Amino acid sequence: TRVAILYGGRSAEHDVSRLSAANVLKAIDRTRYEIVPIAISRDGRWLLQGSSVRDAAGAPVSEDGVEVALLPGGKGRLVAVSRDGTQPDPVDVVFPVLHGPFGEDGSVQGYAEVADVAYVGCGILASAAAMDKDVAKRLMREAGLAVARSVTLHRNDVSSFQEIAGVLGLPFFAKPARQGSSFGVSKVDDRDGFQQAIETAFRYDGKVLIEEFVEGREIECSVLQRADGTLTVSLPGEIIPAGKHGFYTYEAKYLDADGAVVEVPADVPAAVADRAREMARQAFQALGCEAMARVDFFLRADGSLLVNEVNTLPGFTDISMYAKALAASGIGYSQTIDVLVEHALA
Ligand code: DAL
Ligand code: MG
Repeated sequence: TRVAILYGGRSAEHDVSRLSAANVLKAIDRTRYEIVPIAISRDGRWLLQGSSVRDAAGAPVSEDGVEVALLPGGKGRLVAVSRDGTQPDPVDVVFPVLHGPFGEDGSVQGYAEVADVAYVGCGILASAAAMDKDVAKRLMREAGLAVARSVTLHRNDVSSFQEIAGVLGLPFFAKPARQGSSFGVSKVDDRDGFQQAIETAFRYDGKVLIEEFVEGREIECSVLQRADGTLTVSLPGEIIPAGKHGFYTYEAKYLDADGAVVEVPADVPAAVADRAREMARQAFQALGCEAMARVDFFLRADGSLLVNEVNTLPGFTDISMYAKALAASGIGYSQTIDVLVEHALA
């Protein structure tokens, strides 16, 4: 089975994707799969890399690679934009190890559909719905899931700090609707902070979510679906932000080695773990997910849980929860990849 591993990409999470891909390239069983690493440059070109690439510091994006494209209707045929006319062999499965817009949001999934090739992970609709925090919350609310209160702003909306603070209280968060890894997210404490926060968020997206601050712990569950449709929901893990970071920022996640501690399984009462797993299952279904997702929660002091978000291409970096939580539930990293590839081919 030839598996194209896509990584890098046009989103702000380009570097995170390379860290994720480095781990996938390390964990994937090379006796079972032939690896076709395709690095996507920041401007979106697909560059074929040597199959031996591995780099602990992040999978490389080498410009020496032949530029390729998936052929529409080609069942995995790759066409090379090469000078000498050589064409790479077709691939059986595409594994987008991509985060954020142009990867996690349904666009690459749509491209794979048009190319008529199997791909790992959620389909177009679930990918797009989960990427959009505003749409995702509406679907989850409709399914009866508890989510944080929020106000959605579009670029030209008139928004008043006073009004929002009146509805959501202080502090609150401003987030681009379609971003990951906390890019463009700010905590707002006052009017000045508000102006700056929405400017920052609108730099990433024309739609911004203003969300109430939820005092609580960050709990996450991994969901993995087998080819026969059965779901495994992991025990919850916990992200414990450490040091100077007020919340789980991009810096705390990836740049500061002591920025956060990942605890698997989370030290929570069994009843809370059970409820988190059940809500993770419901959120997965509410968004129409397939194959995999990581569902993130806030756990409040009174024991109640709110779904924060659903990630359809969760991080596979060293610090990432997805594979760790599954491992703690008895499914190792390379087995997780096997299940995902089998699901894609089913
Ligand atoms: N968006 C990052 C990769 C995550 O959710 O893990
Ligand atoms: Mg995320």
